[in-house]
Amino acid sequence: GGSDGATPAGTNFGAVAPNTEDAVVVPEGYEQAVVIRWGDPVLPGAPAFDFDNQTAQAQAQQFGFNNDFAGLLPVEGQPNTFLLVVNHEYTTEPFMFTGYDAENPSPEQFQTALAAHGLSVVQVKGESGSGALTPDFGPYNRRITATTEFVVTGPAAGSDFLKTSADPTGTKVLGTLNNCSGGVTPWGTVLSGEENFNQYFANAELVTDPAVAARLKRYGVEGAASERKWERFDKRFDLAQEPNEVNRFGWVVEVNPWDATSAPVKHTALGRFKHEAATIHVTDDGTVVAYSGDDERFDYMYKFVSSRKMMDGNSQAAVRNNMTLLDAGTLYVAKFAGSSADEIDGSGALPSSGTFDGTGEWIPLLRTGEDGRGESLVDGMSAEEVAVFTRQAGDKVGATKMDRPEDFEPSPTTGKVYVALTNNTKRGVDGAAAADEANPRNNNKNGQVLELTDDHAGTAFTWNLLLVCGDPTAADTYFGGFDKASVSPISCPDNLAFDPHGNLWISTDGNALKSNDGLFSVVLDGPNRGATKQFLTVPKGAETCGPIVGEERITVCVQHPGELDGASADNPASHWPDGGDTQPRPAVVAVWKSGGRIGV
Ligand code: FEO
Ligand code: CA
Ligand code: CA
Ligand code: CA
Repeated sequence: GGSDGATPAGTNFGAVAPNTEDAVVVPEGYEQAVVIRWGDPVLPGAPAFDFDNQTAQAQAQQFGFNNDFAGLLPVEGQPNTFLLVVNHEYTTEPFMFTGYDAENPSPEQFQTALAAHGLSVVQVKGESGSGALTPDFGPYNRRITATTEFVVTGPAAGSDFLKTSADPTGTKVLGTLNNCSGGVTPWGTVLSGEENFNQYFANAELVTDPAVAARLKRYGVEGAASERKWERFDKRFDLAQEPNEVNRFGWVVEVNPWDATSAPVKHTALGRFKHEAATIHVTDDGTVVAYSGDDERFDYMYKFVSSRKMMDGNSQAAVRNNMTLLDAGTLYVAKFAGSSADEIDGSGALPSSGTFDGTGEWIPLLRTGEDGRGESLVDGMSAEEVAVFTRQAGDKVGATKMDRPEDFEPSPTTGKVYVALTNNTKRGVDGAAAADEANPRNNNKNGQVLELTDDHAGTAFTWNLLLVCGDPTAADTYFGGFDKASVSPISCPDNLAFDPHGNLWISTDGNALKSNDGLFSVVLDGPNRGATKQFLTVPKGAETCGPIVGEERITVCVQHPGELDGASADNPASHWPDGGDTQPRPAVVAVWKSGGRIGV
């Protein structure tokens, strides 16, 4: 760690060493405070959190569980006031209730879990001279849960694949599930990805139609009872009774946080898969490009290019107009070619050129017209099939199987696009696809970060690997060509963010190097390209996610603290953030430099 005159602005802080503390550890000279925790009031009148007497009614008014993405949107005309928009990815009932019986959850526990999913919109206020943020009750505060009504837009809206007995129109869905990562749009809304929705649906094994069974299998929907047993309380989670409810999840959702009465949207023109968010780049002519990864081993990277142009301004009329941008345009999937493909042996050894790099193309799958109707660009599949069973469309066109694409984000300063490929321990194992130049290690435990120069609205790109993550003393790692003796170990990159100086920041999930997860800065340009430094670590068992890196503060989501093998509310492995003998609580944390700006 340390700093000198050559350290690029934004990365001038003392590196935090790997550790296993039950704390958020920040660099010397930095301060931290929790912004909001699971169970804290979001709506006026919400009861204070009471772990031992939690109810569904309370949870529906409180901050949800397992915060993943966070967006911080300034409130115009109110200095130091923001909307904090956070998603709540999933519930782990054994950590939410003492004495939880996984074989016999109660109706109240079921309802509480539904209410702990979704998103929260919370007004927060800063104070001068500090980066701390305090929750406040403002007119925009809102809870969206697994029972909030969503409107379906795009080519799958009204499709037979989306019709259920409760919604014969196939256009209205109750709730959002497993929202992972996200993006703030240039028009002031928030996108969030419905990721591992497969786990909520029961009785796939009773499905006899071979085509339906194949679709379910391709999406990982398998088995009899679901882990949470929700099918006992609501038949929509039982595939034997409601075969199409599962097709109503796996979408990119868009929330207008500036209108607490607005219906959130599921955009089907972006395809259905385990979306790790969607993030936006706007070209010079106002065309909107949405990038989205499918976080599964051997799954694909996608982009959507709008046919409509973004309307400037932040009036509600502009917001409503821009919320239709993702409903007309073309969906593509990525195919990679390596420049040294013959030299890749799965060990991670660099090819003789000194870099993993190559070219790629975007293969069109689905065009959605101004009238919302889809046109399939894949032989043998209808437009509705491509929209709803997008993975199978990617299979048909020979898209490149990646090492679990997590965040996929364009840099606001250079337009280059970065992808966190988190890990893939099945790469090259038991007959699975072997290493290629973009995924250069078999049994990949530590992941890699891709850098793309994309012809944003076009169909060509070039790429290289910025980082091949892991222990820098190991031969199979690469840090942009930077001196590996002076970087921090990094493992399992997940979420990406950019600071105001143009540096990349990476949060990790699942650190395979026996340290807690953390947040890292990475220099992208100049002689320090590849310099990777750990800014913070999160408590044991937690994932670092949802980073927002500004001049005055960094905020991160601390997700699932204490989620270790054998731990539960009856045997907590963490007491963060409240200390003593308390239960761990997922929370958003702000970090700032006493009397200074971040990293300078
Ligand atoms: Fe929920 Fe792909 O992380
Ligand atoms: Ca997570
Ligand atoms: Ca993630
Ligand atoms: Ca992850």
